Amino acid sequence: MALLIENIQKLVLAEENPRLLVKGHEMADLPCVDDAWLFITEDKIADFGKMKNLDKTALLSKTKEVTVLNAAGKMVFPSFVDSHTHLVYPASREIEYVDKIKGLSYEEIARRGGGILNTARRMQEISEDELFESALQRLDEITAYGTGAVEIKSGYGLTTESELKMLRVIRRLKETSPLTIRATFLGAHAVPLEYKGRQTAYVDKVINEMLPQIAEEKLADFVDVFCDKGFFTTEDTARILEAAQKYGLRGKIHANELDYSGGIQTGVKYNALSVDHLEYTGDEEIAVLKNSETMPTVLPGAAFFLGMVYAPARKMIDAGLPVAMASDFNPGSAPSGNMQFILSMASIAYRLLPEEAIYATTLNTAYAMGISDRLGSIARGKTANVFITKKIPTVEFMPYAFGSNKVETVILNGKIIKQEIC
Ligand code: NIG
Ligand code: FE
Repeated sequence: MALLIENIQKLVLAEENPRLLVKGHEMADLPCVDDAWLFITEDKIADFGKMKNLDKTALLSKTKEVTVLNAAGKMVFPSFVDSHTHLVYPASREIEYVDKIKGLSYEEIARRGGGILNTARRMQEISEDELFESALQRLDEITAYGTGAVEIKSGYGLTTESELKMLRVIRRLKETSPLTIRATFLGAHAVPLEYKGRQTAYVDKVINEMLPQIAEEKLADFVDVFCDKGFFTTEDTARILEAAQKYGLRGKIHANELDYSGGIQTGVKYNALSVDHLEYTGDEEIAVLKNSETMPTVLPGAAFFLGMVYAPARKMIDAGLPVAMASDFNPGSAPSGNMQFILSMASIAYRLLPEEAIYATTLNTAYAMGISDRLGSIARGKTANVFITKKIPTVEFMPYAFGSNKVETVILNGKIIKQEIC
């Protein structure tokens, strides 16, 4: 099985020497090949080059069953990598945001049964099959928008049984979906009602009851904590990260969304793979991140939907940091997993150049999932997760034309998953 895509107007983020992440001013330098071809064998990128150097006869004679696609006027991108989502959830929460429009505070909404605890309540009632089917539909939707890999968190269970249920659903999604999926255990997402006033006891339960079972069943690749004002403290977070380290689980932390919470510093101290949200990031946090292997990850969808201040992504890049941008797809603060919208937000709202925005949503998010050696760019030997665009005039058109789906053909693991004829 092989696939030859020829006459590609532009092959985007095509690396001769693959890197695990890109930071600072390097993010403005996007390697592309004009008038290109791309050759995929089995599930891997075999080769690419310029049309004028394509020896098609030699290529086709070496391989049996080659499908040839003509991408004249179109571009080929590496699939988006969405390194932060909560897309396994029982029901949407649109009434809450209408309440917000009407002026209700977060506390009032919570008292009416809203927020994370609302989703957690419904999580106890839903069957594993229903949860799985609805998540699979969401995966289909994000696939059509060009996502090829996604991280999914638990955190709406908040009981051992329901956290395990969520993580087992994610395991089934891994087995069923062509997307590359990583699972994150987020037991410390909110303090459940029955533990009100006894937060430390709940953290004890996360560490002593939930984590061992999850590790035993190998249900998680990472661990997360909502380390922020009104949620979990830096001490809680340190305890959970330390316990997770014993099971070989690295952190991916919700940090500094609501305040200068110390979450970034704690994440870096425990060598978290990423710290995410980052609306409250100052010079001190930037300095800490500079001496780390932790990927600063911004979630534009949540900031947009909740009307928050935007994280200083421009300043981070100018300070020499890498930046990743993910969707945060969840029913409360970001009910969309459309990474093309995130690409547009990155560029339009956060002032990233289109080149920087492309790195932020592909290679750097792949790093934030620990998979950038295999995904996140077009390079020989990498997994063939790419999409072919509709006819578009320039690379810049991708973030510029926000709101419309510019993806025409999706290729995952070397197979054509979706092809739109237009
Ligand atoms: O990433 N910030 C914490 N958690 C989610 C929101 C979850 C919810 O409201 O359901 C987030 O934005
Ligand atoms: Fe989140």
